[in-house]
Amino acid sequence: NEIYLAGLGGVQSKYPMTFDELETRAAQAMPPSVLSYVAGGAGDERTQRANVAAFDRWGLYPRMFAGAAERDLSVEVFGDRWAAPLFMAPIGVIGICAQDGHGDLATADAAAATGVPMVASTLTVDPMEQVAARFGETPGFFQLYTPTDRELAESLVRRAEAAGFKAIVVTLDTWVTGWRPRDLATGNFPQLRGNCLANYRTDPVFLDRLGRRPEEDPAAAVRLWAQLFGNPLTWEDLPWLRSITKLPLVVKGICHPDDARRARDGGVDGLYCSNHGGRQANGGIPALDVLPDIVDAADGLPVLFDSGVRSGSDVVKALALGATAVGVGRPYAYGLALGGADGVVHVLRSILAEADLLMAVDGYPTLADLTRDSLRAL
Ligand code: FNR
Repeated sequence: NEIYLAGLGGVQSKYPMTFDELETRAAQAMPPSVLSYVAGGAGDERTQRANVAAFDRWGLYPRMFAGAAERDLSVEVFGDRWAAPLFMAPIGVIGICAQDGHGDLATADAAAATGVPMVASTLTVDPMEQVAARFGETPGFFQLYTPTDRELAESLVRRAEAAGFKAIVVTLDTWVTGWRPRDLATGNFPQLRGNCLANYRTDPVFLDRLGRRPEEDPAAAVRLWAQLFGNPLTWEDLPWLRSITKLPLVVKGICHPDDARRARDGGVDGLYCSNHGGRQANGGIPALDVLPDIVDAADGLPVLFDSGVRSGSDVVKALALGATAVGVGRPYAYGLALGGADGVVHVLRSILAEADLLMAVDGYPTLADLTRDSLRAL
Protein backbone atom coordinates (compact mmCIF):
# COMPACT_ATOMS: atom_id res chain seq x y z
CA ASN A 1 0.00 0.00 0.00
CA GLU A 2 2.73 2.39 1.00
CA ILE A 3 4.56 1.82 -2.28
CA TYR A 4 1.35 2.41 -4.27
CA LEU A 5 0.26 5.43 -2.27
CA ALA A 6 3.65 7.04 -2.82
CA GLY A 7 3.16 6.53 -6.56
CA LEU A 8 -0.37 7.94 -6.45
CA GLY A 9 1.00 10.93 -4.58
CA GLY A 10 3.32 11.59 -7.49
CA VAL A 11 6.45 10.40 -5.69
CA GLN A 12 8.80 8.83 -8.20
CA SER A 13 10.63 5.78 -6.97
CA LYS A 14 14.28 6.45 -6.23
CA TYR A 15 15.07 2.85 -7.14
CA PRO A 16 14.29 0.68 -10.16
CA MET A 17 10.98 -1.18 -10.09
CA THR A 18 11.96 -4.09 -12.36
CA PHE A 19 14.82 -6.55 -12.06
CA ASP A 20 16.20 -5.68 -15.49
CA GLU A 21 16.44 -2.02 -14.63
CA LEU A 22 17.88 -2.88 -11.22
CA GLU A 23 20.64 -4.88 -12.87
CA THR A 24 21.33 -2.19 -15.46
CA ARG A 25 21.59 0.57 -12.88
CA ALA A 26 23.62 -1.54 -10.48
CA ALA A 27 25.99 -2.36 -13.33
CA GLN A 28 26.62 1.34 -13.76
CA ALA A 29 27.23 1.79 -10.04
CA MET A 30 29.62 -1.13 -9.52
CA PRO A 31 33.31 -1.33 -10.41
CA PRO A 32 33.67 -3.74 -13.37
CA SER A 33 35.45 -6.45 -11.38
CA VAL A 34 32.77 -6.44 -8.65
CA LEU A 35 30.04 -6.53 -11.30
CA SER A 36 31.60 -9.50 -13.06
CA TYR A 37 31.90 -11.32 -9.74
CA VAL A 38 28.24 -10.79 -8.84
CA ALA A 39 26.57 -11.00 -12.24
CA GLY A 40 28.68 -13.79 -13.66
CA GLY A 41 28.23 -17.52 -13.57
CA ALA A 42 29.80 -20.74 -14.73
CA GLY A 43 30.73 -21.38 -18.35
CA ASP A 44 28.61 -19.55 -20.88
CA GLU A 45 26.01 -19.06 -18.14
CA ARG A 46 23.33 -21.25 -19.71
CA THR A 47 22.34 -22.74 -16.37
CA GLN A 48 22.19 -19.31 -14.82
CA ARG A 49 19.81 -18.11 -17.55
CA ALA A 50 17.85 -21.38 -17.44
CA ASN A 51 17.26 -20.89 -13.70
CA VAL A 52 15.44 -17.66 -14.48
CA ALA A 53 13.62 -18.94 -17.56
CA ALA A 54 12.28 -21.97 -15.64
CA PHE A 55 9.78 -19.76 -13.83
CA ASP A 56 8.17 -18.83 -17.16
CA ARG A 57 7.11 -22.43 -17.69
CA TRP A 58 4.61 -22.22 -14.84
CA GLY A 59 1.46 -20.13 -14.56
CA LEU A 60 -0.60 -19.49 -11.45
CA TYR A 61 -4.35 -20.12 -11.67
CA PRO A 62 -6.46 -17.17 -10.52
CA ARG A 63 -9.11 -18.29 -8.04
CA MET A 64 -12.23 -16.23 -7.34
CA PHE A 65 -14.48 -15.88 -4.30
CA ALA A 66 -11.42 -16.90 -2.33
CA GLY A 67 -11.60 -14.49 0.58
CA ALA A 68 -8.05 -13.25 0.11
CA ALA A 69 -8.66 -9.69 1.33
CA GLU A 70 -6.36 -10.47 4.25
CA ARG A 71 -3.27 -12.58 3.65
CA ASP A 72 -1.06 -14.41 6.05
CA LEU A 73 2.35 -15.13 4.53
CA SER A 74 4.01 -16.04 7.79
CA VAL A 75 5.84 -19.32 8.13
CA GLU A 76 7.57 -21.19 10.92
CA VAL A 77 11.19 -22.10 10.23
CA PHE A 78 13.15 -24.01 12.88
CA GLY A 79 10.97 -22.71 15.67
CA ASP A 80 10.95 -19.04 14.61
CA ARG A 81 7.98 -17.39 12.97
CA TRP A 82 9.04 -15.42 9.92
CA ALA A 83 6.67 -12.71 8.67
CA ALA A 84 7.16 -14.00 5.13
CA PRO A 85 8.79 -17.02 3.47
CA LEU A 86 11.68 -14.99 2.01
CA PHE A 87 15.36 -14.85 2.93
CA MET A 88 18.63 -13.48 1.64
CA ALA A 89 20.88 -16.24 0.29
CA PRO A 90 24.51 -16.24 1.41
CA ILE A 91 26.73 -14.06 -0.77
CA GLY A 92 30.43 -14.25 -0.06
CA VAL A 93 32.29 -10.96 0.03
CA ILE A 94 28.96 -9.12 -0.27
CA GLY A 95 30.68 -6.37 1.72
CA ILE A 96 32.42 -5.08 -1.40
CA CYS A 97 29.09 -4.44 -3.13
CA ALA A 98 28.43 -1.52 -0.79
CA GLN A 99 30.18 1.71 -1.50
CA ASP A 100 31.74 1.83 1.98
CA GLY A 101 32.91 -1.81 1.74
CA HIS A 102 30.79 -2.90 4.71
CA GLY A 103 27.92 -4.44 2.82
CA ASP A 104 27.56 -7.34 5.25
CA LEU A 105 26.60 -4.93 7.98
CA ALA A 106 24.23 -3.06 5.65
CA THR A 107 22.61 -6.35 4.63
CA ALA A 108 22.15 -7.24 8.30
CA ASP A 109 20.58 -3.81 8.84
CA ALA A 110 18.16 -4.54 5.99
CA ALA A 111 17.32 -7.88 7.62
CA ALA A 112 16.58 -6.06 10.88
CA ALA A 113 14.44 -3.46 9.09
CA THR A 114 12.35 -5.91 7.05
CA GLY A 115 12.27 -9.11 9.10
CA VAL A 116 13.73 -10.94 6.09
CA PRO A 117 16.47 -13.25 7.42
CA MET A 118 20.03 -13.08 6.11
CA VAL A 119 22.17 -16.16 5.65
CA ALA A 120 25.65 -14.82 6.34
CA SER A 121 28.44 -16.38 4.29
CA THR A 122 31.64 -17.72 5.81
CA LEU A 123 33.27 -15.11 3.60
CA THR A 124 31.94 -11.94 5.18
CA VAL A 125 34.07 -8.81 4.99
CA ASP A 126 33.27 -8.02 8.64
CA PRO A 127 33.45 -10.76 11.27
CA MET A 128 30.31 -12.82 11.82
CA GLU A 129 29.86 -11.50 15.39
CA GLN A 130 29.56 -7.94 14.08
CA VAL A 131 27.13 -9.02 11.39
CA ALA A 132 24.92 -10.94 13.82
CA ALA A 133 24.89 -8.01 16.24
CA ARG A 134 22.95 -6.00 13.62
CA PHE A 135 20.09 -8.49 13.07
CA GLY A 136 17.80 -7.01 15.74
CA GLU A 137 14.80 -9.30 16.19
CA THR A 138 15.27 -10.98 12.82
CA PRO A 139 16.76 -14.49 12.88
CA GLY A 140 19.92 -15.12 10.86
CA PHE A 141 21.70 -18.25 9.64
CA PHE A 142 25.42 -18.91 9.27
CA GLN A 143 26.62 -20.52 6.05
CA LEU A 144 29.67 -22.72 6.44
CA TYR A 145 32.26 -23.39 3.78
CA THR A 146 33.78 -26.38 5.51
CA PRO A 147 37.56 -26.01 5.83
CA THR A 148 39.79 -29.07 5.46
CA ASP A 149 40.87 -28.50 9.07
CA ARG A 150 38.07 -29.96 11.20
CA GLU A 151 39.02 -28.01 14.30
CA LEU A 152 38.76 -24.79 12.33
CA ALA A 153 35.32 -25.83 11.07
CA GLU A 154 34.22 -26.59 14.62
CA SER A 155 35.55 -23.28 15.84
CA LEU A 156 33.63 -21.33 13.18
CA VAL A 157 30.45 -23.18 14.10
CA ARG A 158 30.96 -22.57 17.83
CA ARG A 159 31.40 -18.87 17.15
CA ALA A 160 28.25 -18.81 15.04
CA GLU A 161 26.31 -20.44 17.88
CA ALA A 162 27.70 -17.95 20.40
CA ALA A 163 26.88 -15.04 18.07
CA GLY A 164 23.21 -16.07 18.05
CA PHE A 165 22.80 -17.53 14.56
CA LYS A 166 19.75 -19.81 14.42
CA ALA A 167 20.95 -22.47 11.98
CA ILE A 168 24.07 -23.71 10.23
CA VAL A 169 23.85 -23.98 6.45
CA VAL A 170 26.65 -26.12 5.01
CA THR A 171 27.27 -25.42 1.35
CA LEU A 172 28.31 -28.60 -0.43
CA ASP A 173 28.75 -27.45 -4.02
CA THR A 174 31.67 -25.06 -3.60
CA TRP A 175 34.71 -26.78 -2.19
CA VAL A 176 36.39 -25.59 -5.38
CA THR A 177 35.39 -22.58 -7.47
CA GLY A 178 33.61 -23.35 -10.74
CA TRP A 179 34.83 -22.27 -14.18
CA ARG A 180 33.84 -18.60 -14.23
CA PRO A 181 35.00 -16.89 -17.41
CA ARG A 182 34.01 -13.39 -16.35
CA ASP A 183 36.11 -13.57 -13.17
CA LEU A 184 38.98 -15.14 -15.05
CA ALA A 185 38.85 -12.34 -17.62
CA THR A 186 38.80 -9.50 -15.09
CA GLY A 187 41.29 -11.23 -12.81
CA ASN A 188 39.54 -10.02 -9.68
CA PHE A 189 40.57 -12.83 -7.38
CA PRO A 190 43.21 -10.82 -5.48
CA GLN A 191 40.59 -8.23 -4.55
CA LEU A 192 38.19 -10.92 -3.40
CA ARG A 193 40.81 -12.80 -1.43
CA GLY A 194 41.89 -9.72 0.44
CA ASN A 195 38.31 -9.18 1.57
CA CYS A 196 37.17 -12.60 2.61
CA LEU A 197 39.37 -13.41 5.55
CA ALA A 198 37.51 -11.64 8.37
CA ASN A 199 36.15 -14.81 9.98
CA TYR A 200 39.51 -16.54 9.69
CA ARG A 201 41.64 -13.65 10.92
CA THR A 202 39.50 -13.49 14.04
CA ASP A 203 39.50 -17.22 14.68
CA PRO A 204 41.69 -18.74 17.41
CA VAL A 205 42.25 -22.00 15.52
CA PHE A 206 43.22 -20.18 12.32
CA LEU A 207 45.59 -17.92 14.26
CA ASP A 208 47.09 -20.94 15.94
CA ARG A 209 47.72 -22.58 12.55
CA LEU A 210 49.17 -19.35 11.18
CA GLY A 211 51.53 -19.02 14.12
CA ARG A 212 51.77 -15.21 13.88
CA ARG A 213 49.51 -12.20 13.56
CA PRO A 214 47.93 -11.91 10.07
CA GLU A 215 49.07 -8.26 9.83
CA GLU A 216 52.66 -9.40 10.13
CA ASP A 217 52.41 -11.49 6.99
CA PRO A 218 49.16 -10.92 5.05
CA ALA A 219 50.35 -13.06 2.15
CA ALA A 220 50.90 -16.04 4.47
CA ALA A 221 47.39 -15.57 5.89
CA VAL A 222 45.91 -15.64 2.40
CA ARG A 223 47.98 -18.71 1.50
CA LEU A 224 46.84 -20.56 4.60
CA TRP A 225 43.22 -19.58 3.96
CA ALA A 226 43.41 -20.86 0.37
CA GLN A 227 45.04 -24.07 1.55
CA LEU A 228 42.34 -24.75 4.16
CA PHE A 229 39.32 -23.36 2.32
CA GLY A 230 37.52 -26.17 0.55
CA ASN A 231 36.79 -29.68 1.69
CA PRO A 232 35.30 -32.12 -0.84
CA LEU A 233 33.11 -33.80 1.76
CA THR A 234 31.74 -37.31 1.39
CA TRP A 235 28.79 -39.03 3.04
CA GLU A 236 31.24 -40.35 5.65
CA ASP A 237 31.64 -36.75 6.87
CA LEU A 238 27.94 -36.18 7.48
CA PRO A 239 27.82 -37.74 10.99
CA TRP A 240 30.72 -35.49 11.98
CA LEU A 241 28.96 -32.40 10.56
CA ARG A 242 25.83 -33.42 12.41
CA SER A 243 27.80 -33.81 15.62
CA ILE A 244 29.42 -30.38 15.68
CA THR A 245 26.27 -28.37 16.34
CA LYS A 246 23.04 -28.58 18.25
CA LEU A 247 21.61 -25.92 15.94
CA PRO A 248 19.42 -26.96 13.03
CA LEU A 249 21.71 -28.23 10.25
CA VAL A 250 20.82 -27.45 6.64
CA VAL A 251 22.70 -28.74 3.59
CA LYS A 252 22.86 -26.43 0.56
CA GLY A 253 23.22 -27.57 -3.02
CA ILE A 254 20.87 -30.55 -2.90
CA CYS A 255 19.44 -31.10 -6.40
CA HIS A 256 19.02 -34.87 -6.62
CA PRO A 257 16.29 -36.77 -4.74
CA ASP A 258 18.72 -39.56 -3.72
CA ASP A 259 20.98 -36.97 -2.08
CA ALA A 260 17.93 -35.46 -0.40
CA ARG A 261 16.90 -38.82 1.06
CA ARG A 262 20.40 -39.67 2.18
CA ALA A 263 20.89 -36.30 3.85
CA ARG A 264 17.53 -36.63 5.57
CA ASP A 265 18.44 -40.11 6.79
CA GLY A 266 21.77 -38.68 7.99
CA GLY A 267 19.96 -36.43 10.41
CA VAL A 268 19.94 -32.99 8.79
CA ASP A 269 17.11 -30.65 9.78
CA GLY A 270 16.58 -29.04 6.42
CA LEU A 271 17.48 -29.29 2.75
CA TYR A 272 18.45 -26.34 0.61
CA CYS A 273 17.71 -26.90 -3.06
CA SER A 274 19.99 -24.63 -5.10
CA ASN A 275 22.50 -24.75 -7.91
CA HIS A 276 24.35 -21.73 -6.55
CA GLY A 277 22.59 -19.46 -9.05
CA GLY A 278 24.40 -21.23 -11.89
CA ARG A 279 27.78 -20.01 -10.65
CA GLN A 280 29.36 -23.36 -9.99
CA ALA A 281 28.43 -25.77 -12.77
CA ASN A 282 27.18 -25.01 -16.24
CA GLY A 283 25.16 -27.39 -18.39
CA GLY A 284 22.93 -28.28 -15.48
CA ILE A 285 19.24 -28.40 -14.69
CA PRO A 286 17.32 -25.33 -13.58
CA ALA A 287 16.97 -25.53 -9.81
CA LEU A 288 13.22 -24.92 -10.03
CA ASP A 289 12.83 -28.05 -12.16
CA VAL A 290 14.27 -30.30 -9.47
CA LEU A 291 12.48 -28.60 -6.56
CA PRO A 292 9.34 -30.83 -6.59
CA ASP A 293 11.47 -34.00 -6.46
CA ILE A 294 13.49 -32.62 -3.56
CA VAL A 295 10.31 -31.68 -1.72
CA ASP A 296 8.93 -35.19 -2.19
CA ALA A 297 12.18 -36.79 -1.03
CA ALA A 298 12.39 -34.41 1.95
CA ASP A 299 9.29 -36.14 3.28
CA GLY A 300 8.25 -33.24 5.50
CA LEU A 301 11.66 -31.70 6.25
CA PRO A 302 11.81 -27.99 5.48
CA VAL A 303 13.15 -27.23 1.99
CA LEU A 304 14.80 -23.89 1.35
CA PHE A 305 15.15 -22.89 -2.28
CA ASP A 306 17.08 -20.39 -4.38
CA SER A 307 18.44 -19.85 -7.89
CA GLY A 308 16.81 -17.58 -10.43
CA VAL A 309 14.25 -15.85 -8.19
CA ARG A 310 13.76 -12.33 -9.51
CA SER A 311 10.26 -11.29 -8.49
CA GLY A 312 7.34 -11.79 -6.15
CA SER A 313 5.64 -14.08 -8.66
CA ASP A 314 8.75 -16.27 -8.76
CA VAL A 315 8.55 -16.56 -4.98
CA VAL A 316 4.90 -17.61 -5.15
CA LYS A 317 5.63 -20.25 -7.80
CA ALA A 318 8.48 -21.77 -5.78
CA LEU A 319 6.21 -21.89 -2.74
CA ALA A 320 3.51 -23.60 -4.76
CA LEU A 321 6.08 -26.20 -5.83
CA GLY A 322 6.69 -26.92 -2.17
CA ALA A 323 9.52 -24.68 -0.95
CA THR A 324 9.24 -23.77 2.72
CA ALA A 325 11.05 -20.48 2.14
CA VAL A 326 12.60 -18.86 -0.89
CA GLY A 327 15.97 -17.11 -1.19
CA VAL A 328 17.17 -14.30 -3.42
CA GLY A 329 20.82 -13.74 -4.27
CA ARG A 330 21.86 -11.27 -6.96
CA PRO A 331 18.79 -9.00 -6.64
CA TYR A 332 19.69 -7.85 -3.13
CA ALA A 333 23.37 -7.50 -4.02
CA TYR A 334 22.30 -5.05 -6.72
CA GLY A 335 20.10 -3.19 -4.24
CA LEU A 336 23.09 -2.94 -1.95
CA ALA A 337 25.26 -1.53 -4.72
CA LEU A 338 22.67 1.11 -5.53
CA GLY A 339 21.59 2.24 -2.10
CA GLY A 340 23.25 0.35 0.75
CA ALA A 341 20.82 -1.00 3.37
CA ASP A 342 18.12 1.26 1.94
CA GLY A 343 18.56 -0.31 -1.50
CA VAL A 344 18.33 -3.83 -0.07
CA VAL A 345 15.18 -2.88 1.83
CA HIS A 346 13.68 -1.58 -1.41
CA VAL A 347 14.42 -4.82 -3.27
CA LEU A 348 13.05 -7.04 -0.50
CA ARG A 349 9.94 -4.97 0.07
CA SER A 350 9.19 -4.86 -3.65
CA ILE A 351 9.46 -8.65 -3.94
CA LEU A 352 7.29 -9.11 -0.86
CA ALA A 353 4.72 -6.58 -2.02
CA GLU A 354 4.44 -8.25 -5.41
CA ALA A 355 4.05 -11.69 -3.85
CA ASP A 356 1.43 -10.43 -1.44
CA LEU A 357 -0.55 -8.61 -4.13
CA LEU A 358 -0.42 -11.62 -6.41
CA MET A 359 -1.84 -13.80 -3.66
CA ALA A 360 -4.55 -11.20 -3.10
CA VAL A 361 -5.53 -10.88 -6.74
CA ASP A 362 -5.30 -14.59 -7.52
CA GLY A 363 -7.11 -15.65 -4.37
CA TYR A 364 -4.59 -17.40 -2.13
CA PRO A 365 -5.06 -16.13 1.42
CA THR A 366 -2.42 -18.33 3.05
CA LEU A 367 0.66 -20.31 2.08
CA ALA A 368 -1.27 -23.52 2.69
CA ASP A 369 -3.59 -22.55 -0.17
CA LEU A 370 -0.65 -22.57 -2.59
CA THR A 371 -0.11 -26.11 -3.86
CA ARG A 372 1.10 -27.74 -7.05
CA ASP A 373 -2.51 -27.68 -8.21
CA SER A 374 -2.33 -23.88 -8.09
CA LEU A 375 0.05 -24.02 -11.05
CA ARG A 376 -0.35 -25.04 -14.65
CA ALA A 377 2.63 -26.01 -16.78
CA LEU A 378 2.81 -23.69 -19.78
C1 FNR B 1 26.82 -16.59 -4.06
N1 FNR B 1 26.37 -17.78 -3.49
C2 FNR B 1 26.97 -18.26 -2.35
N2 FNR B 1 26.47 -19.36 -1.73
C3 FNR B 1 27.02 -19.81 -0.59
O1 FNR B 1 26.55 -20.80 -0.04
N3 FNR B 1 28.08 -19.15 -0.03
C4 FNR B 1 28.63 -18.05 -0.59
O2 FNR B 1 29.57 -17.47 -0.06
C5 FNR B 1 28.08 -17.61 -1.83
N4 FNR B 1 28.64 -16.57 -2.48
C6 FNR B 1 27.99 -16.00 -3.57
C7 FNR B 1 28.48 -14.84 -4.14
C8 FNR B 1 27.77 -14.21 -5.16
C9 FNR B 1 28.29 -12.95 -5.75
C10 FNR B 1 26.55 -14.77 -5.62
C11 FNR B 1 25.72 -14.08 -6.68
C12 FNR B 1 26.10 -15.94 -5.08
C13 FNR B 1 25.15 -18.43 -4.03
C14 FNR B 1 23.88 -17.87 -3.39
O3 FNR B 1 23.77 -18.25 -2.05
C15 FNR B 1 22.63 -18.36 -4.11
O4 FNR B 1 22.65 -19.76 -4.19
C16 FNR B 1 22.46 -17.77 -5.52
O5 FNR B 1 22.89 -16.44 -5.57
C17 FNR B 1 21.01 -17.84 -5.92
O6 FNR B 1 20.84 -17.48 -7.23
P1 FNR B 1 20.39 -16.02 -7.71
O7 FNR B 1 19.24 -15.54 -6.85
O8 FNR B 1 21.58 -15.14 -7.60
O9 FNR B 1 20.00 -16.30 -9.11
